[in-house]
Amino acid sequence: MTRSIRRLAPETASRIAAGEVIERPLSALKEILENALDAGARSIAVQVERSLDHAFQVADDGTGIAAGDLELALERHATSKIATLEDLDRLGSLGFRGEALPSIAAVSRLRITSRRREADGASFVLVEGGRAVERGASARAPGTTVEVADLFFNTPARRKFLHSPAGELRAALRLLECYALAYPEVGFRMTVDGRERLSWPALPVSGLAPEDHGGAPGLHDYRERASALWGARHAAQLLDALGERDGMRIEALLGLPEHARATREGQVFIVNRRWIQSPPLSQALRRAYGNLLPGGRFPASTLWLTVPPARLDVNVHPTKREVRFADESAVFTLVAGACAKSLAHIHPPLTVVRGGAATEPRWADRVQERAGEQPYLRLGSLRPEPPGLASPGGGPAGPGVSSPGAGILAGDRSEPEAAGAGPREPELWQLHRTYILAPVRGGLVIVDQHAAHERILYEDARARLEGARGSAQQLLFPAVIDLSRSQFDLVLELGQWLNQLGWDLAPLGPPSVVIHGVPSDLTRENPGRFLQDLLDEVSESTARESDTDVAEIVARSYACHAAIKAGDPLSQPEMRALIDRLFATSRPHGDPHGRVTYVRLDLDELNKRFGRT
Ligand SMILES: Nc1ncnc2c1ncn2[C@@H]1O[C@H](COP(=O)(O)OP(=O)(O)O)[C@@H](O)[C@H]1O
Ligand SMILES: [Mg+2]
Repeated sequence: MTRSIRRLAPETASRIAAGEVIERPLSALKEILENALDAGARSIAVQVERSLDHAFQVADDGTGIAAGDLELALERHATSKIATLEDLDRLGSLGFRGEALPSIAAVSRLRITSRRREADGASFVLVEGGRAVERGASARAPGTTVEVADLFFNTPARRKFLHSPAGELRAALRLLECYALAYPEVGFRMTVDGRERLSWPALPVSGLAPEDHGGAPGLHDYRERASALWGARHAAQLLDALGERDGMRIEALLGLPEHARATREGQVFIVNRRWIQSPPLSQALRRAYGNLLPGGRFPASTLWLTVPPARLDVNVHPTKREVRFADESAVFTLVAGACAKSLAHIHPPLTVVRGGAATEPRWADRVQERAGEQPYLRLGSLRPEPPGLASPGGGPAGPGVSSPGAGILAGDRSEPEAAGAGPREPELWQLHRTYILAPVRGGLVIVDQHAAHERILYEDARARLEGARGSAQQLLFPAVIDLSRSQFDLVLELGQWLNQLGWDLAPLGPPSVVIHGVPSDLTRENPGRFLQDLLDEVSESTARESDTDVAEIVARSYACHAAIKAGDPLSQPEMRALIDRLFATSRPHGDPHGRVTYVRLDLDELNKRFGRT
């Protein structure tokens, strides 16, 4: 075998390299658009002739390029945006690789006409397949016009694989839409063969006053832009979400569950004003919607995320469509949390049967089943049965299993319901001491015991903190515990809140506290340890979250640490109480962090899977 290694001719090498940056006609438009935005344009006009690969031009009113720099701009790795690798840590522009213009120039006929504000006139250069063929003076207002014609004329292989021109144009409209969302202060216009396809005026962006978070636009501006894009009625139905943590900021406009889509097409992610694709952001968003959406539906939402540039790697791919977060899990938590909070007041479209046959569940008409065939849960009673009445020996968690939650889920011990009244309730099953399986009409509900309890305790805690003071369970032997100095200070600071929750505490003097009573439905056997966990969680959360809604933080921390855990065995009455109480909360489908609390398995689905159609 003979081998010979050759250096590629420069034109060949640059055409091959160009293929990475300019994968398709849309990429050329994207790069040129990003250059206009980087140049501080307030008005951008796109004109397409026939199709993107045939001819298009982008005109902006940005800074312009000096006549002497025009040809330098077309050289590979020539950029005005960064000088050293470290500059990437402070990146404020969309471009930085200095590859776009030379790449486009290598595979098209490209003309750039530009004028800086202070220059007397404009100049232009015309490049064909990477070679400058003409240059000279021209007339133009300050700004830049880039014209691209005959894309891929000299790379026949690429030409063969082009998408349909109509599809490419649709993608171009979406591209403009996404950048319009990222830059509400910029006006966009696009015409195709002389016909106007879109026109969005520049908005006087409120947040651009430097005192508002560093001169960036805010939700108000985004909403206004959304209204220009999608119509006022649609925009009015979007929900605001806002959150901040560790120098990161999330703003979002969330689509209602009924506007969810079958693909992720309705999702726009903008990170540091860059339109990107991001599976983690998509997952965080999905997490926030929890049970509000069935599987296979994707929320239509726009997210604007701001992170410190040094915590973001934008140099993952030549097209710059992907980024990497240094703090991915923190980003996830921030996004999922902020969005879940905003969605919290929406009820899921599916509700488990309440109160027996008299009230039909909302999904009843979706379930094909013969009446009376399926047992269903009798929900709607807040009151759990006392342990003694439980059907014994049933599920895997039968009697005799010692249970840390025993009797405690059954917070209220009023009189038992008359035995034998009403339909016999179906058995509940505990799976791997983590999930509770509950038959409902038309299928099965699988409840995450920890998440469900967290939701219950969270709402309980909120109610107590909002005034309905919680009852305390007095300890027979008051416990003296030693706290750290900051925990002790926090007890003093939170005194009122802790009291509302049902704690009966007496500070002895740093660092000791006497616990006389604990919240009445506390499941944890070591109240001192629990108090410390609670204090630590509160202090961590208040340090992390900028909106210091103390009641919210206390409620969440309380719920999180007081809830039964995966691995805790539960008896029948405990499971029953847990489910009853879960579905009596205002938002049974998600825990306070936005994780789902239960999953439904439909009988139709099972039948289908077993071939019983
Ligand atoms: N529309 C424009 N307005 C002003 N300057 C521009 C414009 N387009 C390109 N340039 C200049 O040309 C340079 C090279 O552009 P490009 O090849 O896209 O690389 P990059 O954007 O990564 O710097 C830019 O750094 C910028 O200085
Ligand atoms: Mg660029």
